[in-house]
Amino acid sequence: MLTGRTALITGGAQGIGLAIATVFAENGANIVLADLNEDAARTAAGSLAAPAVGVRCDVTSAADVNAAVAATVDRFGSLDIMVNNAGITRDATMRKMTEDQFDQVVSVHLKGCWNGTRAAAAHMREHGGGSIVNLSSISGKVGFVGQSNYSAAKAGIVGLSKAAAKEVAHLGVRVNVIQPGLIRTAMTEAMPQKAWDQKMAEIPMQRAGDPSEVASVALFYASDLSSYMTGTVSEVTGGRYM
Ligand code: NAI
Repeated sequence: MLTGRTALITGGAQGIGLAIATVFAENGANIVLADLNEDAARTAAGSLAAPAVGVRCDVTSAADVNAAVAATVDRFGSLDIMVNNAGITRDATMRKMTEDQFDQVVSVHLKGCWNGTRAAAAHMREHGGGSIVNLSSISGKVGFVGQSNYSAAKAGIVGLSKAAAKEVAHLGVRVNVIQPGLIRTAMTEAMPQKAWDQKMAEIPMQRAGDPSEVASVALFYASDLSSYMTGTVSEVTGGRYM
């Protein structure tokens, strides 16, 4: 489905980003994994079933993101798919959350996503279009206790993506959003068992999702299967908060 196309995935060294890279590679795409952890990105790139490289990139830096886009075009000749996936959590109730924890999370998710969307769209609009997929979260739809930073950033990604989608739709660039629910990765496995149990009770399908189940939706958005879709938000939650 992606033969001849090149995808840049931020935060692609592990978790959902790596699952997306894996399914894109299986579908014929060249892959660039851009991650704060360069060693892990390179190792992960080596595990993929397609030409792939890992580069160091801090998504909070526009210069780093622009350099990752330039490196992608330099290595593979194009950038057709951009996945803004890099993320962190710094959970705390508002009483305990520091200003720095708020700024860090907003910077990585919201500014990082803006940096990536802007840089990718700038290239794609000049080269026949492309697909941008931004990772939000169901936390951005409903708001979670202890995540005033993360919920704000993830809701912001929806607004950012819709604004961007309207700006570049006529240039063949599509921008869509995925809102995963509880997905089993390093980020969520760090949660205490009590938090897992509470979340589980809210999921109609009665199980956590696998990263591959987010990746298949990213594949749909990246491919021509979704050629008439832009500015949309897909919930991948097992029915939670439908
Ligand atoms: P993860 O913690 O397994 O992986 C995140 C990756 O992002 C890591 O490789 C990390 O090195 C990288 N990263 C962190 N800060 C970075 C920066 N400044 N620049 C570049 N790379 C950076 O996380 P996971 O679970 O795979 O999450 C991926 C995305 O999906 C995130 O945006 C997360 O918010 C979102 N998400 C995850 C859910 C889950 O249940 N796991 C649910 C909803 C959304």
